[in-house]
Amino acid sequence: MRYPVLSPDEAAALISHGETLGLSGFTAAGSVKVIPAAIARRAAAEHEAGRPFQLNILTGASISPEADSPLAEADAVARRIPYQAAPATRNALNAGRIEYVDMHLSTVAQAMRLGYLPRVSTAVIEVSEVSDSGELTLTASIGNSPAFCEQADRILLELNSYHKPELKQIHDVCTLPRPPYSGSINISSPEHRIGSGTLQVDPAKIAGVVLTHEPDHLATYKAPTPETTRIGDLITDFLESEYRAGRLPGRDCLILQSGVGNIANAALKAIGRSATFPPVKMYTEVLQDSALELIRAGRCLFASSCSLSLTDEMMREFYENFDFFRERILLRPQELSNSPEVAHRLGTICMNAALEADIFGNVNSTHVCGSKMMNGVGGSGDYARSAALTIFMCPSVAKGGAISSIVPMVSHTDHPEHDVDVLVTEQGVADLRGKSPRERAAAIIRNCAHPDYRPLLQRYLEMSAGGHTPHSLQSAFAFHLAFLSTGDMRHAQL
Ligand code: COA
Repeated sequence: MRYPVLSPDEAAALISHGETLGLSGFTAAGSVKVIPAAIARRAAAEHEAGRPFQLNILTGASISPEADSPLAEADAVARRIPYQAAPATRNALNAGRIEYVDMHLSTVAQAMRLGYLPRVSTAVIEVSEVSDSGELTLTASIGNSPAFCEQADRILLELNSYHKPELKQIHDVCTLPRPPYSGSINISSPEHRIGSGTLQVDPAKIAGVVLTHEPDHLATYKAPTPETTRIGDLITDFLESEYRAGRLPGRDCLILQSGVGNIANAALKAIGRSATFPPVKMYTEVLQDSALELIRAGRCLFASSCSLSLTDEMMREFYENFDFFRERILLRPQELSNSPEVAHRLGTICMNAALEADIFGNVNSTHVCGSKMMNGVGGSGDYARSAALTIFMCPSVAKGGAISSIVPMVSHTDHPEHDVDVLVTEQGVADLRGKSPRERAAAIIRNCAHPDYRPLLQRYLEMSAGGHTPHSLQSAFAFHLAFLSTGDMRHAQL
């Protein structure tokens, strides 16, 4: 190999205070694993010596907690873009110690090219292979790595021998030119390839390679609860009846996008059990274990994604059956996997989780009581506006019933009512298509709200001033205020 082999600490020593790093990773899949912790040690030593050391960190989405948490704990992050899910980072940004820029994931690469974001000086990228001519094979995700390598002056690689170079067979890598020169994205079915299996970079930029042998160590999701199983079953029943009525975009091919987390996992499992649909395809950003189960069972014919976010056990199974899966999976950069243009063209059915929704169908996926960031909007908005059918789902209550997920007015809006077709809780399904705000409110209170909260929501609606969307500005946040002052929304004073 023509590049210097470095220890993680030697790689970290190349980074200067004030730099902007582009780190590979879309969930723990494809995340750099050892250099961030070494950078955190460096930051701690610099701070100890009384010198400033903080960085801007761009990623694909979340990265592995082993990479993310030490950076936040060492106070090494000034600015974080575009998504996170590690408790230490979440605490730091909610305490105002990190400036967090929560962005639609499809938009990051273009925002970089247009100069809207701090310029990436060093890309730190996990690869499964690197050639002397600068041809990189990425690992379990593509994320923003092509855009980071394109912009960076210097590239540091983690060469992870756990992941196999054969992965290039399921990669579709490219970068898009700046608008208006990018033309159309020529994908009209999830299996269409438009790029190449490897990422070509200027070999002169590669400053060193750190050798690792690390699985992604993805956290296992919580087993489905009765509520999440019921949500999955209700979505499946709803889609089956829509299919029979001829209202789903494809008759012989439904193309699904499914979000991250426990609820999305349970929904996908339920859809896999349906005997009504023909097998589906997926155009999505994250393939969790449940998606691989669908592919293995022949219920999903092909999946395009940005990352293979699998537990270590499922990743082993993926490699053992690589010849089977390589015919059925493609991983792409997030500006393609999450492209609103493609999601629209494919007539995608998208399913994402909400923290709360209001009685008119506005959805909050990110902020608890309007202020505390949970994770970020992620890719949900990339698909929600563009999909042919947009479903949001959540249990009707959280924290043992002290929080109603259906509120009079959301405390933060990620997805406006215009982007939300269907809302599902374990209580039922509210089909909002073609309904006015008053009709939406009636359907959501009747079908989705928990029985403990229905009378309060009904009272709110009745006392609201008239108008097209009846609200009482005095009481719009009565639920949230009751939770903040008494710990229980059932004490809301209307
Ligand atoms: N207020 C406060 N907390 C709430 C809440 C509310 N209205 N609703 C849920 N929560 C809490 C839950 O109690 C749970 O907390 P815990 O971890 O302490 O038990 C936590 O939020 C997660 O909820 P859970 O029911 O386990 O759902 P999930 O794992 O499916 O995550 C989201 C739900 C919304 C947080 C997650 O899907 C997300 O971050 N979405 C935004 C990004 C996105 O949609 N990406 C997908 C695009 S492909």
